[in-house]
Amino acid sequence: MAIETIINRQYDIACGQADDIGLTGQRIYAMCNLRGGIGKTTLSFNLSYLTDHLLAVDTCPQGNLSYFFDNNYYAGQQINVKDMLLPYLVPGLGRATRAASFIGATNQYFSDKDNYYIPSSEELYLLPSQLITAISQTNGLQQAQKEQAQRSILYSLKTEIEREMAENNLDKCIIDTSPFFAGATQLAWYAADALVIPVRTDQQSVKSLELLIHTLSSPQSEFRKYLSETDRNLPGIQMVVLTHCGWSTVAGARNEPNQQTKVYLKRVYDILSRHRTLLPTGDPDNHLFMLDDFLGSGRISSFESKPIELLQEGETKVIERVRVSVNKSVDKCKNQLKYIGRQLW
Ligand SMILES: Nc1ncnc2c1ncn2[C@@H]1O[C@H](COP(=O)(O)OP(=O)(O)O)[C@@H](O)[C@H]1O
Ligand SMILES: [Mg+2]
Repeated sequence: MAIETIINRQYDIACGQADDIGLTGQRIYAMCNLRGGIGKTTLSFNLSYLTDHLLAVDTCPQGNLSYFFDNNYYAGQQINVKDMLLPYLVPGLGRATRAASFIGATNQYFSDKDNYYIPSSEELYLLPSQLITAISQTNGLQQAQKEQAQRSILYSLKTEIEREMAENNLDKCIIDTSPFFAGATQLAWYAADALVIPVRTDQQSVKSLELLIHTLSSPQSEFRKYLSETDRNLPGIQMVVLTHCGWSTVAGARNEPNQQTKVYLKRVYDILSRHRTLLPTGDPDNHLFMLDDFLGSGRISSFESKPIELLQEGETKVIERVRVSVNKSVDKCKNQLKYIGRQLW
């Protein structure tokens, strides 16, 4: 029954006519699922374009989001997330300040947006072991000092994000994360008010959603074990976005997901139904949305670091000797992205 509700709503969303859910907006979101290649960075990039006064933070050592914002990112000149976090782990280092850069300075499409970003660093691959070392060094302390020292480490990213948001007059934040929980993703979860979870229509993505939910909800997990029960509210799941959705092309079918999409929509829905307490409204209908396969539009958007919102049907581009074009469904994708953005902020 409820899956039909979601599918029907997707039709209205595609036409730009769906009512907003009216979810309570949060300030800081972590874009997360414990798997690569499912759309975390693509979604972070496109949502960044659809709002204002936003801080985007790239905590994935691959740096794809940083590259979207600045095609010179891999030259590695800027103050980055690692520089912000290291002083919390290694004594004697000075704190960073004004680490965020105006996105419009390096990506022309963002020039009229008051949005900023903090780039990633390849060195974040080393963060998990540095974190463990820093935390284990608190073990010799008295209980009260130990808790205080651990909190300072675990909430380091949150402290730094709050400072950068205040310094730059920003009121929204999105943190793109890596597929690995240990390290910066863990800190992103402590920093976030809520999670946005892309799930691709395949078995591995559903498995990683289950792993994520376990990590979020089990008191013994790597995430929860450092927190006392009264410590703070855990981040909720603001939404799950089923990515790479396809629709039936059978004659006469209208607004009918293809078989694969339908199977995974149902699986994800069932998982959310079993974990309603993680959803702010307690009802999976309000927290599951679909995003189509972008096809050629996605390739051109990535190639040009240009938000999907700015693409026009029929535009073409030669990418690796193949002519790619912005397909007819681009307007549907734009409406889906805008709707998702409106349920966040
Ligand atoms: N909705 C989508 N439709 C088509 N391709 C997509 C979509 N979202 C992402 N992609 C493509 O899938 C690949 C992985 O996406 P990315 O956002 O980098 O994933 P992640 O950050 O989760 O590793 C990229 O090539 C990207 O262009
Ligand atoms: Mg990514």
